[in-house]
Amino acid sequence: MREKAPIYYDAKLQAHVLSRYEDVSFVLKNHALFSSTKIRVAGKLQEERASVQELGSVSNLVTTDPPMHTRMRGLVSRAFTPKQISAMEPRVRELSRALIAEMASRSEFDFMEGLASPLPVTIISEMLGVDTSRRGDFKRWSDTLIQSSSATLQSGKASEQVERSAREMLTYMQEVAEARRREPRGDLISLLVQETDGVAALTPPEVNSFTVLLLIAGNETTTNLLGNTLNALIRHPEAYEWLRREPSAASCSAVCEETLRYDSPVIGLFRRTTQEVEVSGGKLPADSSVLVLLASANHDPRKFPDPERFDPRRDTNGLMSFGHGIHFCLGAPLTRLEAPVALQELMERAPRLGFAPRQPEAIDYGGSFFLRGPRSL
Ligand code: HEM
Repeated sequence: MREKAPIYYDAKLQAHVLSRYEDVSFVLKNHALFSSTKIRVAGKLQEERASVQELGSVSNLVTTDPPMHTRMRGLVSRAFTPKQISAMEPRVRELSRALIAEMASRSEFDFMEGLASPLPVTIISEMLGVDTSRRGDFKRWSDTLIQSSSATLQSGKASEQVERSAREMLTYMQEVAEARRREPRGDLISLLVQETDGVAALTPPEVNSFTVLLLIAGNETTTNLLGNTLNALIRHPEAYEWLRREPSAASCSAVCEETLRYDSPVIGLFRRTTQEVEVSGGKLPADSSVLVLLASANHDPRKFPDPERFDPRRDTNGLMSFGHGIHFCLGAPLTRLEAPVALQELMERAPRLGFAPRQPEAIDYGGSFFLRGPRSL
């Protein structure tokens, strides 16, 4: 496709699919030509399908354009400064270590269940300031919402169970937001509901939609990255051996960055053209759906030579896995802290992992359209 059909019209999706690095980068950079609002997937408005988000509010960060996006991003980015993220390292390490100790005490275990999945959701719930007594509920709600997010996109309808979980979670988050407004603590919700340095607080529906967005955008993606990383290491013994010889923070980061490129947790993103636009020698009509393939851009040999080689020593600068431009992933610094720290702890405690005999040769990716990561490992 990248070579022969750089603008491929997919009739089922009713979208023009772009796969070259240069085109993907061009689309994501030019938000005035390629809008994030009123995205249509297979002819249907995405908002009609994402009922979970509707429960939260009318709009959220990823589905807005400037000036709305600029305002919301300014508000929420206060919670994701490099200083705040790096302060979380000791806790991420402690939690990783505990999860790994529990998991690796058995001769055979599911890495997804033992580490990749609980780590991000626990960190987010702690960041949000969810009470310890409600963490179990929170994990259950978020698991349901996360599982449903891709299913919802495909079926267009949320199940009753999903709606119930979403309502329970939003009621709880509203109570927390109310309590933090009255009596702020040092958590993320307190920050979002308080006016600081002249920046206005988020409104209650904005707090809701942002919380749901964090869960969906931030958890399964990081879980997938962790799963894809271990999968890549086991399948590339040379890279695994290289890491074993020198499991430094820098090497662990390099392995995670190369996994982001080689096996991107988010496959693609949709946009809508605001006018007729020319790309790669062809024209995209006005008001049409465009799907940019991040995973393909990361394998474009014009940008990354010998792209099918998994090589943690390569230059991964410019990888598209976190998007590009104004919507560049807000949580990237958090993932870039979490994944390498978890990997380093894993190298410390269990440096020689291999597949269990009953691991099927082909990984089950769960059939999600946008997200890619093993269901179990
Ligand atoms: C946006 C990928 C982890 C929060 C994005 C986008 C991508 C992405 C591709 C761009 C969406 C677009 O342009 O339409 C990833 C990957 C992750 C990851 C691959 C991990 C491996 C996280 C985490 C959080 C997070 C941990 C939060 C805790 C967000 C938010 C946005 C976003 C809030 C919206 C930003 C905006 O619209 O301005 N992410 N993400 N992500 N991500 Fe992530």
